[in-house]
Amino acid sequence: MTDDDLAAAAAGPLDTARFRQVLGHFCTGVTIIAALDAEGMPTGFTAQSFTSLSLDPPLVSFSPSTTSSTWPKIEAAGHFCVSILAEDQEVLCRTFAESGIDKFKGVGWWPAPATGSPVMLDALAWVDCRITEVHPAGDHLIVVGQVLSLKLQREGKPLLFYRGGFGRFEA
Ligand SMILES: Cc1cc2nc3c(=O)[nH]c(=O)nc-3n(C[C@H](O)[C@H](O)[C@H](O)COP(=O)(O)O)c2cc1C
Repeated sequence: MTDDDLAAAAAGPLDTARFRQVLGHFCTGVTIIAALDAEGMPTGFTAQSFTSLSLDPPLVSFSPSTTSSTWPKIEAAGHFCVSILAEDQEVLCRTFAESGIDKFKGVGWWPAPATGSPVMLDALAWVDCRITEVHPAGDHLIVVGQVLSLKLQREGKPLLFYRGGFGRFEA
């Protein structure tokens, strides 16, 4: 039996819709991952795949799509800063999930201390990193970053992403 046969026998065909439906039940926070491009202009995109990876050494990871137009600019910069979004930053999140627009137009940011990568104003926290590894993984890449500097920026609750929609955290 192939893997596909086993999956079909267990739960029905492993198609795109089922993959999205099941994995969409995994709730995440939302980040904007940003860097300065070769011209010194800010560039970035919305990512839910950000995760804490290792404490010693301090590592994080995220997974850009191989079709992302922003990722090659971040890779060329060699570093990035992750802004962890607050519950009132859904509009920012949606803006940075669009391709081919001037995402930073009218958006407040400041340069992170170690790398100069953009930190989004009013994000809950930021994590400033150097790219150490990039691994191919299907239609995405797994990017590992060494944490150079990080800080909480303000009090507040996180923006959450669940089943294709946005929500708020209640303890
Ligand atoms: C909540 C949310 C989370 C997302 N997470 C990711 C992600 O982890 N990786 C990814 O490649 N795209 C993710 N996307 C889609 C990208 O943000 C989007 O494809 C990208 O910004 C396209 O712009 P680009 O061509 O400038 O990269 C996410 C979108 C949303 C709305």
